[in-house]
Amino acid sequence: MRMREEIPPLPQAEPRKGLRVLAGLLRDRSPLTALALMREYVGPVFQINAPNFRPAVFVGPDANRQILITERERLSWRNESDPVVKLLRRGVLVVDGEEHDHYRRIMDPTLQRRNVIPHIPDFWRYTDQVADAWADGSTQDMLVEMRKVALLILMGASFHVDFAPHMERLWQPILHLIEYISPGLWVVWPGAPVAAKHRRAMAAMDEYLYAIIRERRQALAESGAAPAPSDLLGALVVTPGMTDDLIRDQLLTMLIAGHDTSTALLAWVFYLLGMHPAWLAQLQAEIDAVLGKQDEPPSNEQLNELSLLEQVIKEALRLYPPIHVGNRRAVEEMAICGYRVPEGSRVMYSIYLSHRDKEHWREPDAFCPERFERGQEEKTPPFTYVPFGGGPRTCIGATFAQIEARAVLARLLQRFDFELLNGDRIHPHMGATLEPRPGVQMRVRWRKR
Ligand code: HEM
Repeated sequence: MRMREEIPPLPQAEPRKGLRVLAGLLRDRSPLTALALMREYVGPVFQINAPNFRPAVFVGPDANRQILITERERLSWRNESDPVVKLLRRGVLVVDGEEHDHYRRIMDPTLQRRNVIPHIPDFWRYTDQVADAWADGSTQDMLVEMRKVALLILMGASFHVDFAPHMERLWQPILHLIEYISPGLWVVWPGAPVAAKHRRAMAAMDEYLYAIIRERRQALAESGAAPAPSDLLGALVVTPGMTDDLIRDQLLTMLIAGHDTSTALLAWVFYLLGMHPAWLAQLQAEIDAVLGKQDEPPSNEQLNELSLLEQVIKEALRLYPPIHVGNRRAVEEMAICGYRVPEGSRVMYSIYLSHRDKEHWREPDAFCPERFERGQEEKTPPFTYVPFGGGPRTCIGATFAQIEARAVLARLLQRFDFELLNGDRIHPHMGATLEPRPGVQMRVRWRKR
């Protein structure tokens, strides 16, 4: 280890460039613009210098590998004053060490491929449940519709709960909770009071989640013997030591992390297909060739045959990664990419900037699904493309999300034609996930089948 004073401090923007970054931020009203300008002016490592908010930001494969693998033990996932920690309490996403590994061991098996594949019929059925309400020629906001699909799927597959009767009542509370954990005033004012609407939303969700847990415990008690858990909630309930509070924390974590991300991914795919109708037509041709008019759910093998669809999903995840940044805290002083990171610093690795870095991608801002063609993939160093993070804490739902996306998109493109109506107004919004705002308005027409 080099002497402390030999390790250079984190680079910051010199004042003139700093002003340009600020101008970009104000012009586009988007922190993404500011981040991209910092990358351009300062480099792949930089420190943001805002009041009360001075994170070290890292871009690119070396940094990603260090943060996700080699230096991970010295980085905590928990920033105590962040709203996401206050909301998820002891959820697997915001705890470290043995406690984290324990929760992960309980939940991991239910999300492994062999346990996700049997849910393909659910993915198909819930998609139909939402899309059956679309009249021929109607306009649908795909950001809203995909949230409905993602919520039904997550609750149905992970908790064996039919969410449809609760959708209307819990829609606003869920959006309020997402708003609560999105970047906001708390970034520069960590002690900001919790707004009344956010407190009400938490209370509504808690009431719902604790009721689900009670019902499952009761069903278990009535059944006498402990059956093998067939879903995530079952796995949590049968584990000794998992109190209702701890289970609530995991359920809320999975509910938020598991549906808001898929919502964003699916909505971005529709935006991109709307902007590139030739790709939409190619995907429909592929789906017609593999599935034809088949109404019953596809097999996993059939979904695997949809290689163009896979390319488009991967490219959407590259251009608009729903989780665009990973957040950590340095538990001790350390060096990342040769720069000194003081103890207690907030550390971020930017998935969005890594996915668009000129150093590693050809035409990084262009929609180019061919770069993921099987066997012909564009060559990038490992850890350049990290839509699901990486290392031991890689996304627990990555397999679930990818099979879900294929099934939902295959069904919708098989049944409908789509025309994008507001493409010129759509921009990435940095909420809890990267979302297409103000929504993806599409004219939906029934396909003749
Ligand atoms: C397109 C969909 C999804 C994307 C893009 C995505 C992305 C990510 C990323 C990038 C991370 C790591 C963040 C970091 O390193 O800081 C992560 C972690 C996580 N994701 Fe996902 N995710 C998706 C779907 C899901 C689903 C469906 C679930 C649940 C069923 C889920 C649950 C989680 C959890 C619990 C973690 C924390 C894992 C741990 O700390 O051990 N995600 N996700």
